[in-house]
Amino acid sequence: MSDNIDARLAVIVLAAGQGTRMRSSLPKVLHRIGGRSLVGHVLETARALSPERTVVVVRHERDLVAEAIAEAAPDTIVVDQDDIPGTGRAVEMALADLADYEGDVLVLSGDVPLLETGTLQELLRAHRERRAAATVLSATVDDATGYGRVIRDDAGGVARIVEHKDADEAEIAVSEINAGVYVFQASPLREQIARVGTANAQGEKYLTDVVRLLREAQLTVAAASAPDAAAALGVNDRVQLSEAARILNARTVRRWQLEGATILDPATTWIDVTATLAPDVTVLPGTQILRATTVAAGAVIGPDTSLVDCEVGEGATVRRSDATLAVIGAGATVGPFAYLRPGTQLGADGKIGTFVETKNAVIGEGSKVPHLSYVGDATLGRGVNLGAGAITANYDDLAKHRTEIGDEVHAGSHNVFVAPVRIGDGAKTGAGAVIRKDVPAGALALSVAPQRNVEGWVEKNRPGTAAADAAAAARSAQEADNGAQEEDR
Ligand code: UD1
Ligand code: CA
Repeated sequence: MSDNIDARLAVIVLAAGQGTRMRSSLPKVLHRIGGRSLVGHVLETARALSPERTVVVVRHERDLVAEAIAEAAPDTIVVDQDDIPGTGRAVEMALADLADYEGDVLVLSGDVPLLETGTLQELLRAHRERRAAATVLSATVDDATGYGRVIRDDAGGVARIVEHKDADEAEIAVSEINAGVYVFQASPLREQIARVGTANAQGEKYLTDVVRLLREAQLTVAAASAPDAAAALGVNDRVQLSEAARILNARTVRRWQLEGATILDPATTWIDVTATLAPDVTVLPGTQILRATTVAAGAVIGPDTSLVDCEVGEGATVRRSDATLAVIGAGATVGPFAYLRPGTQLGADGKIGTFVETKNAVIGEGSKVPHLSYVGDATLGRGVNLGAGAITANYDDLAKHRTEIGDEVHAGSHNVFVAPVRIGDGAKTGAGAVIRKDVPAGALALSVAPQRNVEGWVEKNRPGTAAADAAAAARSAQEADNGAQEEDR
């Protein structure tokens, strides 16, 4: 039961702003770091606190934002902000949806993505311990530009928060900032938010004004300082976006290192929060491991490799390659310079080699496509070897067709498989063959006419060229040689 009011928790996430400073057609809170939207990170952190209700306030591009929220956290209540601007108005609209609620209200900013659950738990603990009407998460930073400053009274208590644009010189010099994250008791918040006006530099209803009003009503406002000031970073522009991405990535890399992955160069390795690495994976510089990619033990990824939604098996190697929605079997090797498109499934101990592109291609155990090939809409059995330059001609201008290659097929160099076509188990194909008809199991398929040499063609048809001169020189040397042999007899 939630009779214990102190233990009750509702969360409000502010996500209605346009994010003008991003200069983007995409709403700010939908910009992504570490493979997840800014607001997605905030919702994920909030979820770990198990609040009884989570309300997100939207307005700018509301459908896009609401859709992203429904995907990230389906239990979330979405509330629309009206045309009165400001964080205070956003909270006021959310409270209308929490009319019957008594207890703590944690307010989070949709553009402050790096705070960790532990920091919020500590904020709540401090708030409940002091029985404060409000507790502000603050941070002391080197550059406070753009942030609201926490102004203390003579006794060291929190007196008010002043926005950068409204601050005088002395206030600007304050390095303690408002992280944009607060806990309030619902009732006093509800009472004071109604009294907030818009007489300020931005003509907005500031949530931060509630702090001053609570103090004027003789209530306690506390501040809890974030243990890691960098985690309080608010994303207002693209510079801060990349900064936040870097901090988050450093955290993710460190986490996998502590779990047993060797990551040589954290600065050039990017790992989404949704990817997983097993122990004894090695990641070489310049590598991106993105989305739902999983990498099994002992695999070596990189250098200069991108994996998006891939599954890499134990002990596999992927060098200087790009892969999306591909499954790479245990012990398989990929690259250097391979391009694996969606639907590629490389079997255990298989190989997709240099300058090879694959798409919708199921390549069996131990099968190899080593060099300069395109394999699309194809199934290869076990132990297949395609020679250099193999091409599946899968598209006839109207539709895509499959190439089906059986087990232990060995294809010569520079083959074209004109789909739909089937090659039976154990068959072989000659160099340069264009395979337009099915090949029965065990057959040798040849499609190239026998070679014919037209003697003297170059000297006759290309006189005066370097090739003709070389041919003439070769002919006289041969004739001299023949003459000498004649004399020897
Ligand atoms: C806000 C705080 C500032 C704090 C900083 C921390 C106010 C008035 N100022 O400033 O003290 O230091 O965050 O990062 O609160 N939003 C709405 N509706 C609106 C306006 C904004 O939902 O009408 C949302 C935005 O989508 C955003 C968040 O509130 O997620 C913060 O808004 P933003 O305009 O970025 O505020 P700051 O100027 O950064
Ligand atoms: Ca902000």
